[in-house]
Amino acid sequence: MTDAKPVTHTTLPASGMPFVPMAGTHDPVLLTEVLEALNIRNGKTYVDGTLGLGGYTRAILAAADCRVIAIDRDPAAISAAREWAPAYGDRLTLIQGRFGDMTKLLPGPVDGITLDLGVSSPQLDLPERGFSFRLDGPLDMRMEGTTGGQTAADIVNTASEGDLADILFQYGEERASRRIAKAILEARKETPITRTGHLSRIIRKVMGRGDGRIDPSTRSFQALRIAVNDELGEITRILEVAPSLLLPGGRLAIVSFHSLEDRLVKNALRAASGGDGNTSRHLPQKHETAPELTLVGRKPVIPGTEECTRNPRARSARLRIAEKRTMPEKAGDA
Ligand SMILES: C[S@@+](CC[C@H](N)C(=O)[O-])C[C@H]1O[C@@H](n2cnc3c(N)ncnc32)[C@H](O)[C@@H]1O
Repeated sequence: MTDAKPVTHTTLPASGMPFVPMAGTHDPVLLTEVLEALNIRNGKTYVDGTLGLGGYTRAILAAADCRVIAIDRDPAAISAAREWAPAYGDRLTLIQGRFGDMTKLLPGPVDGITLDLGVSSPQLDLPERGFSFRLDGPLDMRMEGTTGGQTAADIVNTASEGDLADILFQYGEERASRRIAKAILEARKETPITRTGHLSRIIRKVMGRGDGRIDPSTRSFQALRIAVNDELGEITRILEVAPSLLLPGGRLAIVSFHSLEDRLVKNALRAASGGDGNTSRHLPQKHETAPELTLVGRKPVIPGTEECTRNPRARSARLRIAEKRTMPEKAGDA
């Protein structure tokens, strides 16, 4: 969402329902595909588990006379949405919370759930949120803002060298994780690392210009963001409960942006639809419980060339879709 363009009426289905623009501009990734995936109908209720700037939420509300429960863990996203939410009356409910806690947040099962994983443009573009290596700011990265737990600076200044290297390797797939962790430990002996600019200078010193394709700080910043916000834990938690939160025929549509997220989604949806979530062909394929979901398409939906040109952030996006089965099949039938 860094290359923002406004959502326009032309991207939305003509439903006769109002579309309320809002302050700021934003280009929601795979919007048309997500709307199609959710199979939006009058009178139904959908959950947008990652409200952000409300691109999906407003498009769903414009697509039919339906209701949306919109969740975001970032209090700033909820406050921004309060500006335009009144136009939808009781069709829109805003909830500040984590999608991993959705069982507690929802009043009951719904007709569709969508997630657009990762960070939003205001989070990335505001230096004071500390997500960006391009803009100097406090090394924070908490999606909950100041109400969140530990910051990226807390991790960088207190973790052991081994733990830091593991974080950078596991969550950033950073091959230079050990060298970067060592350099961080050296640097913090001099002075605590409290700014994004300071951290990215340390990384650049280790990596030089990198391979020139991405900024040398990209993987390390991704890793710290994932660790600070327990992002993979959140995805795991929602995937465990999502089938039980859907009404029969209800759809789950998840957009992910990197392989760690997509692997979790792919494996969980496969497992819940009766395939084996483990991708190894060498492990036994056991289905002890009846499959609750059916995959909609075996391959992920990816953005077309036009969307990738318009919005480079879309390039790594992958949409996976599953549908809640009407009657659970007997275990082993799938
Ligand atoms: C990529 S943006 C969503 C953009 C949105 N689809 C739009 O069209 O404006 C991701 C949003 O999800 C929120 N988020 C990330 N992880 C979350 C979680 N576990 N629970 C709730 N919200 C989360 C972030 O705070 C951010 O606002």
